[in-house]
Amino acid sequence: MADAYDLSVIVPTFNEEENIAAIIEAIGEAFSKSGIRGEILVVDDGSSDRTIPIVGEIAGKTDDVRLIVRSEDHGLSQSVVEGFGAASADILLVIDADFSHPPELIPRFYEAIRDGADIAVGSRYMEGGDIEDWPLARRLISLSATAFGRILFPAVTDPVSGFFAVRREVVSGAPLAPRGYKILMEVLGRGRWRSVVEIPFVFRDREEGASKLRAGTVIDYLRQCAGIVRFSITRRSGRVSREWEKVVRFGLVGLSGILVNMGLLYALTEIAGLYYLVSAAIAIELSIVNNFVWNDVWTFKSAKNLGGNLQRFWSFQAVSMAGLVINMSLLYLLADVAGVYYLVANLAGIFIAFAWNYAANRHYTWRGA
Ligand code: GDD
Ligand code: MN
Repeated sequence: MADAYDLSVIVPTFNEEENIAAIIEAIGEAFSKSGIRGEILVVDDGSSDRTIPIVGEIAGKTDDVRLIVRSEDHGLSQSVVEGFGAASADILLVIDADFSHPPELIPRFYEAIRDGADIAVGSRYMEGGDIEDWPLARRLISLSATAFGRILFPAVTDPVSGFFAVRREVVSGAPLAPRGYKILMEVLGRGRWRSVVEIPFVFRDREEGASKLRAGTVIDYLRQCAGIVRFSITRRSGRVSREWEKVVRFGLVGLSGILVNMGLLYALTEIAGLYYLVSAAIAIELSIVNNFVWNDVWTFKSAKNLGGNLQRFWSFQAVSMAGLVINMSLLYLLADVAGVYYLVANLAGIFIAFAWNYAANRHYTWRGA
């Protein structure tokens, strides 16, 4: 088909009068430099500034730019999904209007999909990626959102990125439940895909206009994560549920380790008559061995052929020791410095140490599981 498009670029907008004309032009330049026949879909949520007339005028002059003005169900993710539905190409790309995502990288996303990937994610958190000019608080919020998303999608370093491309089949017919800001999580969680590649990019904070991130965004995000987890548990298929199965198994193994630890501490102290700190050291080490064996033969059984047994054991041992240090330091910091009740502080310590233990072992000890 001579008149078909290779690529549909979706630009969600809400009050972007300072940026929209320039970003459309920059995207058009990326098309012409790389020979991509692309269309641009601006999906606007009823901006009150001049965004709509500006895009309307451009769209009036060329078929390659279209404007969709929404009036219901306001939201970034919803707008993107509406753009997916209206797009005509088989490869779809999403990019912010405010130049946070460099439009000159668009051809690389396009090529990645054309070369076989189902999803291409622009990553701020891989080698070569970065974030410029973000205040520390915003970085921390983003990092914790990312850390959570990474438990769900270990193959993706930046699962909350707003800059990504997908093959149409991934999203068409997928039961997406868009809400909030993190549309990519939704696509990863409910879309049909096998392969994902990441492309590093440097996120630049907007120079014009204001971010629309609100406090409710965090709540939205947590609800979205819960929705994806629920979805994958009820379907019991796909990547997320396979990952969660591992998390749950890892947790159960951890519980068995606590039993081994307590049982040995008691037996060695009361029956064998050892000094309780000596018993504790032995009990901790043997519970680490216990956990290693169960995780190796059960939780991560699909990765057994990776590295030698001993190599995996030492890796697990090192991660566990670091986990212990994390647990103790948090307990101390929260209880002694921040004045949190020590049992509550310990719970927080256990939780973070668990996240560390799981993530570190998942990525080092049993990588490829
Ligand atoms: N249609 C529509 N509706 N567009 C919106 C809405 C909305 O409710 N809210 C924001 N947008 C548009 C903006 O006009 C901009 O083009 C883009 O979506 C991103 O909005 P920003 O307000 O600039 O987002 P940000 O810079 O705080 O967040 C960025 O980083 C996140 C990851 O930390 C975005 O790239 C997000 O997509 C990304 O998830
Ligand atoms: Mn932005």
